[in-house]
Amino acid sequence: MVAACANRRTRLLAQLPPGAVAVLHTAPEVARNGDSHYPYRYDSAFYYLTGFTEPESALVLVAARGDKPARSILFCRAKNPDREIWDGLRHGPQAARAAFGFDEAYPIEDLDSSLVRLRDHAPSGIDLLPLLAEMRLVKDDVEQATMQRAATISALAHVRAMQHARAGLHEYEIEAELLYEFRRHGAQGQAYPPIVAAGANACVLHYSANNALARDGDLVLIDAGCELDGYASDITRTWPVSGRFTAPQRQLYQLVLAAQGAALDAVVPGRPYAGIHAAALDVLAQGMLDLGLLDQNTCGSAADVIADKRHLQFYMHGTGHWLGLDVHDVGAYRHTGNAQAADQPQPSRALQAGMVLTVEPGIYVRPAPGVPEQYWNTGIRIEDDVLVTATGHTILSAAAPKSVADIEKLMQ
Ligand code: GLY
Ligand code: MN
Ligand code: MN
Repeated sequence: MVAACANRRTRLLAQLPPGAVAVLHTAPEVARNGDSHYPYRYDSAFYYLTGFTEPESALVLVAARGDKPARSILFCRAKNPDREIWDGLRHGPQAARAAFGFDEAYPIEDLDSSLVRLRDHAPSGIDLLPLLAEMRLVKDDVEQATMQRAATISALAHVRAMQHARAGLHEYEIEAELLYEFRRHGAQGQAYPPIVAAGANACVLHYSANNALARDGDLVLIDAGCELDGYASDITRTWPVSGRFTAPQRQLYQLVLAAQGAALDAVVPGRPYAGIHAAALDVLAQGMLDLGLLDQNTCGSAADVIADKRHLQFYMHGTGHWLGLDVHDVGAYRHTGNAQAADQPQPSRALQAGMVLTVEPGIYVRPAPGVPEQYWNTGIRIEDDVLVTATGHTILSAAAPKSVADIEKLMQ
């Protein structure tokens, strides 16, 4: 980790103009109420370059100029024996410099005066974030290993939820099984508020109350992932609380699974990112017609459905996003800067080995005139975390079962 961060700083510094000075602060601590704070989470970009997790810290990068080498300087909290009795260890600049491999380190109180001294370096005011976004988009070996472990812990949590589920449990009782599994494998917490949605609640895309009863005959949609050493995982599985899909549930489920399969087939280096969504949408639109969710006589072909955006009634989100230190990670989805007519979207960027993304098609059927009643109040999403490799992809979350047969077998 120390070597990986030093390597990232070197690569970033090499992209800065000679002598440039750039400052990156970590995130502030945030008060919740009374004397309580939200659990502290460092800034993702700061952590990416430092591995340093203490609040009240900043990184100053000074690019090489002439015979002056590049420098990485950490500013952090000074040692404070009184505060350490209450809050725990502070490295202090001296120990932090040695442990994390910075060229220099000083107390955070000295940041402003140090920047004044550095100001004769030119140019300054560099915006690091676009450069960092491009770097963070392609995960190095250390990141890939952490993300594999994060996804496996989350997959085990989904398995545990399936094993413990039964009709009559509250959604929060199932949620508790997920959180138990995250923590017992060493994940620091959850990457985002988990969704445990039974029955009609699964049609609420950002449902988070997690307080309803799961009743016999309900599908349960769980979208939950742990955060491990800063890295997010993000998995969704949908399964029948009774352990067996009803016939209409199975039809919708197989459709989403087929859409996910088509989308996964599009995760190939060199292919456009946008091809993943397009592949899922083709399958879903055809399925909406085949199952009678949309009327062929009025909607026409699958291509017509997509052109007329009729699918949005049942599939209203994208098929995934970059995944990394942030659950919706940084990195442009389209090429930028190409000269093009203002009303033309920039072309989708090509997939590249080392990128990590989610593939998460779904279908959400609310009661509506003309929609077959057997499908009402059914929400299904299947979401995996996928690493682009040199030849195709690896599904990091493969340990969470998703075929009808595997789910029913596990839940027996
Ligand atoms: N859990 C957030 C997402 O799937 O994008
Ligand atoms: Mn996601
Ligand atoms: Mn998700």
